[in-house]
Amino acid sequence: MEDGRAAVDAAFEACPREGFLPRSQRRRASYDGPLPLSGGQTNSQPRTVEAMLRLLDVGPGQRVLDVGAGSGWTTALLAHLVGPGGAVLGLELEPDLVSFGRANLGRTGQPWAHIEPAVPGLLGRPEEAPYDRILVSAEPRELPAELVDQLADDGVMVIPVAGTMLRVTNPGAVVTRHGGYRFVPLR
Ligand SMILES: C[S@@+](CC[C@H](N)C(=O)[O-])C[C@H]1O[C@@H](n2cnc3c(N)ncnc32)[C@H](O)[C@@H]1O
Repeated sequence: MEDGRAAVDAAFEACPREGFLPRSQRRRASYDGPLPLSGGQTNSQPRTVEAMLRLLDVGPGQRVLDVGAGSGWTTALLAHLVGPGGAVLGLELEPDLVSFGRANLGRTGQPWAHIEPAVPGLLGRPEEAPYDRILVSAEPRELPAELVDQLADDGVMVIPVAGTMLRVTNPGAVVTRHGGYRFVPLR
């Protein structure tokens, strides 16, 4: 777990938050709270992102799905954690944020990660499943079975559900609870 902590710290150092904020918010990058993006969405609180990445326990070479890519920050952090032998697919519903996130991610020079528009009404991207890890940065009321179905046999998903951070592990979709958090809704 110490190695995991060091890897997450290194990812934060390699992908500073400033590069994923609108110009008007950059001077607030060190603020430990969510910051506004376009379309009423947010760049998540750094402490929350760090807790989620630690729970996700991402390793080199893994295939990761990032649902709610927003500013591209989590996609870039995940890309650093999987390294060039891995792959990260970020999905985002807001068209303006797809462009914003892509531009921000592109500047990090990690072409094994990319951001695609989410298909309204379709959660995740089942045709490219299974994923070793799934990170969800928007909140549903119930654990979505469609996303659990996209996890690999030994996969891990971290997702806030109805105010509580859940870690879902295969085999068996075993759920553990990791404290209270609030996110924008998963649509
Ligand atoms: C907290 S925000 C952005 C977090 C992002 N990881 C970041 O670091 O900037 C969550 C994002 O999830 C997006 N979202 C909500 N429902 C979604 C869905 N079904 N598929 C993909 N993105 C979704 C929202 O548009 C929003 O941009």
